Amino acid sequence: MPTTAARSRPETRPPDARARARRVRQRLLKWYDEHQRRLPWRARPGQAPDPYRVLVSEAMLQQTQVATVLPYFDRFIDALPTVRDLADADEQAVLRLWQGLGYYRRARNLHAAAKAIVLTHGGQVPDRVDQLLKLPGVGRYTAGAVASIAFDKPAPILDGNVARVLARLFLIEQPVDAPDVRKTLWRLAEELVPSARPGDFNQAVMELGALVCTKAGPTCSACPLATVCDALRADRVSSVPVPARRKAPVAVQHHILAIERNGRFLFEQRPADGLWSNMWQMPTAENLSLRADAHGLTGWATRRLNLVLNVPKRLGSFTHQTTHRTIRFRVWLSTATSGRLRPRAGRWRGLGGVDDLPFANPQLRAVGMLKDHLTHRRG
Ligand code: ADE
Repeated sequence: MPTTAARSRPETRPPDARARARRVRQRLLKWYDEHQRRLPWRARPGQAPDPYRVLVSEAMLQQTQVATVLPYFDRFIDALPTVRDLADADEQAVLRLWQGLGYYRRARNLHAAAKAIVLTHGGQVPDRVDQLLKLPGVGRYTAGAVASIAFDKPAPILDGNVARVLARLFLIEQPVDAPDVRKTLWRLAEELVPSARPGDFNQAVMELGALVCTKAGPTCSACPLATVCDALRADRVSSVPVPARRKAPVAVQHHILAIERNGRFLFEQRPADGLWSNMWQMPTAENLSLRADAHGLTGWATRRLNLVLNVPKRLGSFTHQTTHRTIRFRVWLSTATSGRLRPRAGRWRGLGGVDDLPFANPQLRAVGMLKDHLTHRRG
């Protein structure tokens, strides 16, 4: 029996779960129809989405905002319009198209996924979650996103935006990265995704998280779910979701060395595994443990490259944040005065001739610093 107090305030009682789920779906889809952004991977009204474009967009959108992705997506699709074009492309060309987006493993995985799609699925992106999950780099989120958005399969998704919306909607007050909380969130996402318009529903949740139910400063007054939101009812919107408990990043120091010889500079390719694998860089001393100064660097270059250098001059420094590390980069310029470069240690290139080489962001920044310095030196 409901208590008298509860009976006197029926509107504050949580509605029956199924009725609530229906309400959430209806309101969200209606809101999405009115407010969705026109995005190049979304189908135009009355048209079917292109599964390849959906796959590419979902790879790019992992940990990256829509606004950042847009120019990359257009360039990528212009250069590689079909899954076969991507499968046949050279890895360096794929990395070049990804240059600046970060998390380059996504590009390598997407490339490998395209090859697997051509080899195993006749060039058609598979429509089943279990098949999608077998593709390189495709986890539960991407499999659900592609199955629902490209093929209208009622598969759930959970990313940062969805987790935030669900944590607020259902007032989940534990850190959203805790395994049991993730399990609960996946279950809620699964219960909510409708069999009609599941792709639109999933995109609507993400869109709500991106535009209305934002991390800081959510606009609850414009939210279609305001009347069914437990966090809003409890006045806890600003304290939910509880952020993930992250270890503090480790601070490290790297030295980038621009080495000039006859007007050209030395570039080397990183190893095939680890951070920024197979991308290009100027020789970089990572966590130099001896003397992290100009003299320490010349010794390092001689041992590593077999080049004798003038004492390097400091061009500048900057900080680059990765998930687990805060990397302080110092950029140096030196001239090779003698020595025969160790075989296969790198390539000498003029700065005008490096556009075909993929660089990760810190190296791009260092090349920019070097170009600025040379321009001023000449001027
Ligand atoms: N983030 C990830 N996938 C997305 C999509 N399809 N639409 C909007 N934001 C997204």
